[in-house]
Amino acid sequence: MSIKHLNTRNQVFYRYKISLEWSMPQKIEIKPAEGKLGVLLPGLGAVSTTFIAGVMRIRKGLSKPYGSVSQMQTIRLGGRDEKRYPLIKDFVPLANLKDIEFAAWDIFEDNAYEAAIKAGVLDKKDLEDVRKEMDKIKPMKAVFDRNFVKNLDGTHVKSGTKWDLAEQVREDIRKFRKEKKLARIVTVWCGSTEVHTERKRVHETIESFEKGLRENSEHISPSMIYAYASIMEGVPYANGAPHLTTDIPALEELAIRKGVPISGKDFKTGQTLLKTVIAPGLKARMLGVKGWFSTNILGNRDGLVLDDPGSFRSKEISKKSALEFIFQPEIYPDLYKNAYHKVRINYYPPKGDDKEGWDNIDIFGWLGYPMQIKVNFLCKDSILAAPIVLDLALFMDLAQRAGFKGIQEWLSFYYKAPMHSPEVYPEHDLFIQHTKLKNTLRRMMGEEFITHLGLKYYGVKE
Ligand SMILES: NC(=O)c1ccc[n+]([C@@H]2O[C@H](COP(=O)([O-])OP(=O)(O)OC[C@H]3O[C@@H](n4cnc5c(N)ncnc54)[C@H](O)[C@@H]3O)[C@@H](O)[C@H]2O)c1
Repeated sequence: MSIKHLNTRNQVFYRYKISLEWSMPQKIEIKPAEGKLGVLLPGLGAVSTTFIAGVMRIRKGLSKPYGSVSQMQTIRLGGRDEKRYPLIKDFVPLANLKDIEFAAWDIFEDNAYEAAIKAGVLDKKDLEDVRKEMDKIKPMKAVFDRNFVKNLDGTHVKSGTKWDLAEQVREDIRKFRKEKKLARIVTVWCGSTEVHTERKRVHETIESFEKGLRENSEHISPSMIYAYASIMEGVPYANGAPHLTTDIPALEELAIRKGVPISGKDFKTGQTLLKTVIAPGLKARMLGVKGWFSTNILGNRDGLVLDDPGSFRSKEISKKSALEFIFQPEIYPDLYKNAYHKVRINYYPPKGDDKEGWDNIDIFGWLGYPMQIKVNFLCKDSILAAPIVLDLALFMDLAQRAGFKGIQEWLSFYYKAPMHSPEVYPEHDLFIQHTKLKNTLRRMMGEEFITHLGLKYYGVKE
């Protein structure tokens, strides 16, 4: 029965009850973060090695975890007068960085140190401090199919039917668990972007998907095989790239059935991060947008892969989706209906991992008078992505211990194209995403939500 059908007295009571439940949530039972946490990385390239070397340096006390919300951010609890601002890592039971073990798959045989040197993100002297540990991380043979990544070719790959490949990946996961005596594992995709593909019938149910694996369906990508194997082994899966992986009914259903959290897609790092900061600001002030032109030049291996139109298409869709959802042109047609949005990525080797992003934003204000904003973001792609990998690994592990399964929308904060349930649109506004993330942590721990209401400041008795 809907609340509208209740009489007025009962409606008031019901609303009061809901608001009480909402503001004073029950603490969720969370299993403790005991034992070691394994982090599995399909892809041992720029992002993975920057993440691994970073965690190793941080736990030796040689660097600080800048950019990591889980490690550096505090969370306000209760009213401002209570002055309770613990660090997130002290508030929720997260795995300790000292308890993390790493493993990866790649199509090249370079160990983590060699791959980091080739990626050229971190200075050699910073890598030397952790070289011994990094040398030991040798990638396992990858599941690879050139139909999905056209601009790369490697020899360090598994063979067999897609079913066999999934079985081999499952065996890799079990071996990692046993050899390192792990209590829990999380997978974070840091491999190359696969070509853009659409959902097909084979993706509809677990049965059709497994049949597709046995029959070598051309519509099952390598990333789906890693995801399937992870979920089957009870391992949460986060997708750092924009391609279709767990966002198919078969794997969503499997994740729910196995009690496994999944999240994606595409780490929100450089240009899109700024886009989802600026766009909500313009909208908050009811400033209109005529056009938004975004272009990037980058020269790393990711740039080479994205030089292929199929992989670029995956990225283009993910990069373009943010503005439409933030501006809501159907609600604000005068301001945003005709906003022209273009995104370009250009492979330019001299830039390496130092990506340069330009944005030209044509806006208008009072009486329609035009103005312009120019953004030139000289960023380091992997420096922005590495702390996201860390936070996702820790929060996905936390989610599983809290009994959360399926799509983890509260982690939208980290993604360009957040996965979401089919009944709702994805939330792109960084500030709403941030509130959602923190309120979910408060909810887990039974703390009241921060509403910024506080009527007592206006002389009103509460
Ligand atoms: N760096 C960022 O800011 C950022 C932001 C959003 C998304 N991403 C995505 O993260 C991913 C990693 O980025 P990167 O800069 O580290 O790229 P990279 O090219 O340096 O590393 C990717 C690695 O994956 C390997 N690989 C490709 N297919 C594989 C497979 N099937 N199995 C195992 N390994 C495979 C490649 O050999 C390569 O070593 C890319 O998909 C990229 O689009 C990066």
